[in-house]
Amino acid sequence: MNKAAIGVLISGRGSNFVAIADSIDAGRIPNAEIAVVISNKEDAKGIQVARQRGLQYAISPTKDRKREAQEREVLSILKAFRISLACLAGYMRILSPALVQECRKLGITILNIHPSLLPLFPGEHAHRDVLAAGVKESGCTVHIVDEEVDHGPILVQRRVPVLPGDTEDLLAARVLVQEHLAYTEAINLVLSGDYKVDGRRFVKG
Ligand code: GRF
Repeated sequence: MNKAAIGVLISGRGSNFVAIADSIDAGRIPNAEIAVVISNKEDAKGIQVARQRGLQYAISPTKDRKREAQEREVLSILKAFRISLACLAGYMRILSPALVQECRKLGITILNIHPSLLPLFPGEHAHRDVLAAGVKESGCTVHIVDEEVDHGPILVQRRVPVLPGDTEDLLAARVLVQEHLAYTEAINLVLSGDYKVDGRRFVKG
């Protein structure tokens, strides 16, 4: 059986990308391979790791470029590597509805990981917002990307406590451990093909 080709999109550290790559190498994601790692930043640490691991990578800079041209480039990379599953993993750009729709037409599912229990605390400063709100629990969410930000059907959520004395960094580190597990679970769910999407609901089996 052909393995599903995953494209991972990053902007920085890339620890979620590494967790996915480790899961593939360890056989925890049996039916897939990372065909390409795409970064909008040339100096992303994750790109160094991709290089060290002998993975294909591509840089598609966003700085000083029109969004449309950059997104066309991303799409052509996804097509060139025959990607069926694009995993946003700390990719710090919002995808335009046009790109999301184009991917849907091509049969490319896009996943995103967000460091809160969506629909609570969407946006760029999830941990800060969690701490400011005084909630006692947070976590992470892997969801299918739709035309709205941090909004699409939820596949997996994992929880952590918010502890007295937490800082953004402490909370982020606790959530990150769960992110790494959540992405593997979510990828396996999608690759099983055994689900349907009903509005904003992801329904297994
Ligand atoms: C993660 O916390 C992810 O949820 C958020 O950005 C961070 C990326 O971390 N979208 P890394 O680059 O995967 O280490």
